[in-house]
Amino acid sequence: MRLPDNEIRDITKLLEEGKPLPDKYRFMLFGDDREIELVWNGKSRDVTNVILPFQTIEHVDEPRAEANLTAQAELFDPTTGRQLKGWTNKLIWGDNKFVLSSLKSGPLRDEIEANGGIKLIYIDPPFDVGADFSMDVEIGEETLEKAPSVLEEIAYRDTWGKGTDSFLAMIYERLLIMKDLLAEDGSIYVHCDWRVTGLIRQVLDEVFNQSNLINEIIWYFSQGGKGSSYFGKKHNTIWLYSKSTKPIFNEKEVRLPFTPHKQDSKGKNFGGRMGTDEDGREYVEKWGTGKKKLYRYYLDEGKLPEDVWTDIQSIQSAATERVNYPTQKPEALLERVIKASSNAGDLVVDFFCGSGTTAAVAEKLGRKWITSDLGKFAIHTARKRLINVQRELKAEGKDFRAFEILNLGRYERDFFVSGLADLDDSQRNKAEQAKEQAFNQLILSAYKAEPITGFRTFRGKKQNRVVAIGPANLPVSRLFAEEVVAECIEKGVTKVDLLAFEFEMGLFPSIQDEASSKGVDLVLKHIPKEVFDKRAVDRGEARFHDVAYIEVRPHFNGNSVCIELTNYSVFYTQGITSFAEEGLKNGGSQIVVENGQVIKISKDKDGLLNPREILTKNWHDWVDYWSIDFDFTNRKEIVRIKDEKSGEFSEKWTGDFIFENEWQSFRTRQDRSLELKSIFKELPPGRRRIAIKVVDIFGNDTMKVIPVTIGGKA
Ligand SMILES: C[S@@+](CC[C@H](N)C(=O)[O-])C[C@H]1O[C@@H](n2cnc3c(N)ncnc32)[C@H](O)[C@@H]1O
Repeated sequence: MRLPDNEIRDITKLLEEGKPLPDKYRFMLFGDDREIELVWNGKSRDVTNVILPFQTIEHVDEPRAEANLTAQAELFDPTTGRQLKGWTNKLIWGDNKFVLSSLKSGPLRDEIEANGGIKLIYIDPPFDVGADFSMDVEIGEETLEKAPSVLEEIAYRDTWGKGTDSFLAMIYERLLIMKDLLAEDGSIYVHCDWRVTGLIRQVLDEVFNQSNLINEIIWYFSQGGKGSSYFGKKHNTIWLYSKSTKPIFNEKEVRLPFTPHKQDSKGKNFGGRMGTDEDGREYVEKWGTGKKKLYRYYLDEGKLPEDVWTDIQSIQSAATERVNYPTQKPEALLERVIKASSNAGDLVVDFFCGSGTTAAVAEKLGRKWITSDLGKFAIHTARKRLINVQRELKAEGKDFRAFEILNLGRYERDFFVSGLADLDDSQRNKAEQAKEQAFNQLILSAYKAEPITGFRTFRGKKQNRVVAIGPANLPVSRLFAEEVVAECIEKGVTKVDLLAFEFEMGLFPSIQDEASSKGVDLVLKHIPKEVFDKRAVDRGEARFHDVAYIEVRPHFNGNSVCIELTNYSVFYTQGITSFAEEGLKNGGSQIVVENGQVIKISKDKDGLLNPREILTKNWHDWVDYWSIDFDFTNRKEIVRIKDEKSGEFSEKWTGDFIFENEWQSFRTRQDRSLELKSIFKELPPGRRRIAIKVVDIFGNDTMKVIPVTIGGKA
């Protein structure tokens, strides 16, 4: 379109003056013939192209009984009954933005395509504007609210920080990549509620095309609270879109029992004429529109559900499938979705895993799966749930697949230094550097360290130790920690504290052992959230706490070994006890966490503080789960690396080992007990390294590796 000269002049003038253009130009200036489009502040079709390697942290596989090995014997190790080959399901910890971009263009893409591609995506994003990552967790006899971690808060801010605009930007970018990942005959189900359904519909129309909208499913549930000043909000909407015109749809798999039509006392039928055919099959006959054709429906064939689903209840407090995850969806809902839009052996994916409902149902229905979440607590909840699914399937004599837990690991150096992976060098401007400096300054002053300059990774000094600080919005990766140790060796520094909000899974204690073997005393400390609270910093209440530690004792019986968990210490502090005490109402009480103790504080009705009551009676109250790999060094972590020039992939050992989950004990909602001694496991004679992993009630993991000699002493 050629604009008149006066319009061109006006536009130029406005641009020169740095003023916004009037709305009418939006449609005149751009070569796009869309008549309707949802636009929000900052909308862009750019998607992140960061590829981060997936790092395998843990491999979980219940040993199979011999009888089950015969069917696909080549897939399994005959001595251990564990899966050796074929697809392994994936539970990934990380922001799905980077999970998606890394799946799209990284080495896993080939494996996905070799397994038929992704046939079904179900997502249930956090659509509640007020929702956060707080969770109720049980400790001993008490329930404690786990506050969100700093990284979770940052993610929450990215999603809801600027209200609907940021939610739309978040979901739009992810949907664009999901479409790319979907197989041609694949479908996507997007679960949302009244707050965002209208907007999500527009975004989905744009990404998947209106012509690929298959259904607007209304899931109605009557349970739960209802307001008295408005009509009860008792449904969610699930948008179903296909990638192209021929999606998988197994209508026969999801049929419901056909309710027989009623006859009155005079034999008159309602809703159709009932009858029985010559084979004794019951049917109902109905005339089509205009009474031109008579349709016969057999009752035993059931009925395809319509788009309003009223037969699936939301999770009730007593439901056996409930795992205490606040946004958990019912398995029956996922069962219908997965049966309808995928076949056995297909790959089903959920990028907002939560408690792992999609993966659990996919496993039960014989599908392959990938699922991801950025909350460690979600990953841990899903891990326990999926182990239980393996155990159940094993007990029923059914097949199941191994799964692995992955980190989005080893961030590139540029990525972690400023955490600005999305920006290129030219954009990484002075303002951002200033922000990083301010962040470091804040942490150093709370840690009571002096700033130092001129180093790659050191930011401060405290007495005779240098101080390095992890990135503001990512967990500290092994690469980061290795870089810190390398700089210590270069500069002849022997004592360093590495401060971070979060550490990659499985990082310690191996990283400290590695540093110590090079003569560097590396101490890892968690940065408390209170560094952002000036009052807390001024009063010296922002406590940097140590990472947890484990004590174990091996017991031997001939060539068999059993591990006893003898101690586990955490040093968490959540909130500032003295502030909480000041804020208590008369007669009120609150539960706080201070230096690894759960404490109940309360005031009497006259406003006097009662003595603090320590609720954590035993060290093992903190332990939610522990597991053992009896031969830690037998499974090397191999990654595929792409050669930038040739585009070829090659395999390389990262220097790490994958924790093979061979035995585990954990608490569930129904059974809060925990075994503190493992089974005896027979091992071949010789020196072995046994790894013990503990996950605490907040979902954070710690590992310890002990050397043992089989046929001798530890
Ligand atoms: C509504 S819940 C999903 C519940 C799940 N359908 C179930 O049945 O348990 C949404 C989940 O998305 C996760 N989440 C939010 N933003 C994310 C992101 N950027 N990357 C990965 N996960 C995210 C949250 O941690 C939360 O567990």
